[in-house]
Amino acid sequence: MAISLAQSTLFSKTSLFLRSSCNVLNRLTFCVPFSSSSASPLSTKKKWKPPVASVLELGGVKIAKDDVVRDDPTNNVPDTIFAKLGMQLHRRKQHPIGILKNAIFEYFDANYPNKFDTFDDLCPIVSVKQNFDDVLVPADHVSRSCNDTYYIDSQTVLRCHTSAHQAELLRGGHTHFLVTGDVYRRDSIDSTHYPVFHQMEGVRVFSPKDWEASGVDGTDYAAQDLKKCLEGLARHLFGAVEMRWIDTYFPFTNPSYELEIYFQDKWLEVLGCGVTEQEILKRSGKLDNVAWAFGLGLERLAMVLFDIPDIRLFWSTDERFTSQFSQGQLGVKFKPFSKYPPCFKDVSFWINESFTENNLCEVVRGVAGDLVEEVSLIDNFTNKKGMTSQCYRIAYRSMERSLTDEEINDLQWQVRDQVQNKLNVVLR
Ligand code: DAH
Repeated sequence: MAISLAQSTLFSKTSLFLRSSCNVLNRLTFCVPFSSSSASPLSTKKKWKPPVASVLELGGVKIAKDDVVRDDPTNNVPDTIFAKLGMQLHRRKQHPIGILKNAIFEYFDANYPNKFDTFDDLCPIVSVKQNFDDVLVPADHVSRSCNDTYYIDSQTVLRCHTSAHQAELLRGGHTHFLVTGDVYRRDSIDSTHYPVFHQMEGVRVFSPKDWEASGVDGTDYAAQDLKKCLEGLARHLFGAVEMRWIDTYFPFTNPSYELEIYFQDKWLEVLGCGVTEQEILKRSGKLDNVAWAFGLGLERLAMVLFDIPDIRLFWSTDERFTSQFSQGQLGVKFKPFSKYPPCFKDVSFWINESFTENNLCEVVRGVAGDLVEEVSLIDNFTNKKGMTSQCYRIAYRSMERSLTDEEINDLQWQVRDQVQNKLNVVLR
């Protein structure tokens, strides 16, 4: 069952929602919107905490560290993730993510003048209710696990998708909207996965008068309109490409589809979408309406449109990267400034019951940051006593410079040390 495709990934694993265990309580919390230019009067009747005012100021957004990295048994937000909060790459006009966002806005502006409300500074700290319950993610769905999602406490998470804002905006009376934001997922490490990435969510609500004259029912009408809208968007971004619709499953839509385009000799997933589940509309007081929704991963598309080979580059402040992009210029091809050599190091250990690859990756990122390019399982065996040994290969490579042997050896020693101490595995 895939509920996610709009991930950081371009290719391999479709869904973080597909993996693992550990449920937490679903209690009600609230969202703290950032200072908001385009923002909505989101419903704030719930218990509200004042926005915090210290510690981090990046890209104009402040979030206090102790609001995110807390001494709570469920908290699994590392400093490396906290450091990314508030960066808001999608609000930088000269950054590929911001350029792509604006190109999508341009399409909606041209085709639906002044129709869609845009939100791009809604706070990524949301309640479990917003992130999961409000969009009908089943109580036992693996996407809720602490292996896949960053929990601040048992009731509060870093949103793992922009769908987390659908219900509150519908309740707030919005009928056409686009939400862009940074989203957070625990994941494995390779050139297309990064624990922070960006999504855009779109929703359009119809009233009976919209479809009555059409001769089809509301659901068919919305599905047809959705496909037309998104095919137009794909052409706006990619030119005259071949497209196909794939039936799929999302908890929040029925029917649900993925759009794929044939681009550079491959079928590429562009987005997930569908006709909004009636229950979501009903809960927002819209009994007679029908709606469509879509969600797309911006890195995934930007990597293809700008020829960006590694997802870490989006975070680079190296001028040789940043200076290659300009406002309004979609699809300028990135010229790699140099390809520095990778260095591979292996680490083997006997795993225990709580071991997961996501936990390992977090440890490696904690030590090596963006110097780690890939972590891959290269050997796995279980002995007669039932003990399982795994060997992971870590590829270290900087996007910006050559790494010295000494530096890499030092990183690898730290990784070994922390794997042992934090994950309680026995090194081999
Ligand atoms: N939230 C989904 C994800 O993160 C993407 C998505 C799919 C959003 C379908 C939607 C939708 O609004 O209708 O993978």
